[in-house]
Amino acid sequence: MISAPPASTWSRLVERERQQFIERRTRSRQLAERARAHWLSGVPMHWMADWGTPFPLSFSAAEGTSLRDVDGIEYVDFCLGDTGALFGHSPPAIAAAITRQAARGLTCMLPDERVAAVGEALASRFGLPFWQVTQTATEANRAVLRWARALTGRPKVLVFQGCYHGTVDETMVRLRAGRTVAREGAIGPPFDNAAAAKVIEFNDFDALEPALAVGDVAAVITEPVMTNIGMVLPAPGFLAALRELTRRYDVPLVIDETHTISSGPAGYALGAGHAGTAGDAGAQGLAPDFWVCGKAIAGGLPCAVFGFTAEIESRMRRLLRNRETGHSGMGTTLAANPLVFAALEAALAHLHTEATHAAIDERARYLEQSLRKIFDVRGLDWHVSRVGARLEFGFGPAPRNGSEAEAAMRPEYEHALHLWLLNRGLLVTPFHNMMLTAPMLPTAAIDTLCHEIGAFIDAT
Ligand SMILES: Cc1ncc(COP(=O)(O)O)c(C=O)c1O
Repeated sequence: MISAPPASTWSRLVERERQQFIERRTRSRQLAERARAHWLSGVPMHWMADWGTPFPLSFSAAEGTSLRDVDGIEYVDFCLGDTGALFGHSPPAIAAAITRQAARGLTCMLPDERVAAVGEALASRFGLPFWQVTQTATEANRAVLRWARALTGRPKVLVFQGCYHGTVDETMVRLRAGRTVAREGAIGPPFDNAAAAKVIEFNDFDALEPALAVGDVAAVITEPVMTNIGMVLPAPGFLAALRELTRRYDVPLVIDETHTISSGPAGYALGAGHAGTAGDAGAQGLAPDFWVCGKAIAGGLPCAVFGFTAEIESRMRRLLRNRETGHSGMGTTLAANPLVFAALEAALAHLHTEATHAAIDERARYLEQSLRKIFDVRGLDWHVSRVGARLEFGFGPAPRNGSEAEAAMRPEYEHALHLWLLNRGLLVTPFHNMMLTAPMLPTAAIDTLCHEIGAFIDAT
């Protein structure tokens, strides 16, 4: 079978699962009804209503890979906050570091005493000499693209079809019928996003040079492995070609590893970590001009970092010397506060380690093999792709680009699967079929997850 089965075969099952979800979660339902009075769509961020459940689950507590809702139902968490909790919930090293800092000042607009040491740790870990901190990966990407436009004097950003780099307007674009257009669904963009961007397909060697040669591209921003449209692996040589061409046309290359930090202590492009099926020896060790990481970088606290080369730094310093005084358009009051620095220091020392990633990788490899077996014995041609701890399966063969990935998606079937898993104590991301394996994840939980995915396929 190439794709997911048609809705007619599983819509009755969804109704039963919805009923079961509702019956067992009276407290979540009461809280959801109450919250509707004062929160848009009943939730503090409107997309939290997009889980495909009859009403949102109310979170109570989590530790490691266990998460409990307000009805006391326990879940094994394979979603892990879509990477923020990559190393498990409330890692003891982070909890201890922020507890110590909590009584000593939370925010002050001054550089924390740990700044020098953390700068050294970032530089030696990732090999880029200069760094800045923001609160989120979105803000880091927004800042990097502002810098790139300012340094090059060019207006456009080149992105790949199916990309997501946070809510950065100029990356909220799609390729439709060969043209760059604003992404469907974006609310109230301040300008025509498509005017500030160009979109081409990932792995399209032929489209790269013409897009860069025009001379209007300020930066290329990409994940080394696309992870936000299912997963699209880099074709052998593609990232090396991207690096070579961006150098030739003097276009800064921005590598966003907010998700692919799942592959090792130094991520995918700068390290030689546990790349799983996404391994491309030629791509690992890539030398980007900017490198971005958020979410798990400080163990799940709101923090992101971006690093850059000495050459970029000297161009930035020149620009800062010569610009008019006034607000730069970058930076927020609460970023880089002492609480976050306590977490960042602890995360670099205790979470982003070879030992943690070895544990992560062992579990992810086992999950990958187990899923393949589930599909193989059922004669399904579904693919499994993996970059370290991050794993996706999809319907049909592995996509080569964002358009192929998008065409193969079956959001309603995926929601039905997620609901089935939730009712059996298993939490996966609300979007496509993504799973993460934290270092303390019990092997038995992987067996249960795979058993239940198999049972769902059999029931549909
Ligand atoms: C690759 C990538 N970059 C940036 C972001 C934005 O992260 P945040 O929402 O924490 O700003 C995301 C979010 O999923 C992401 O996947």
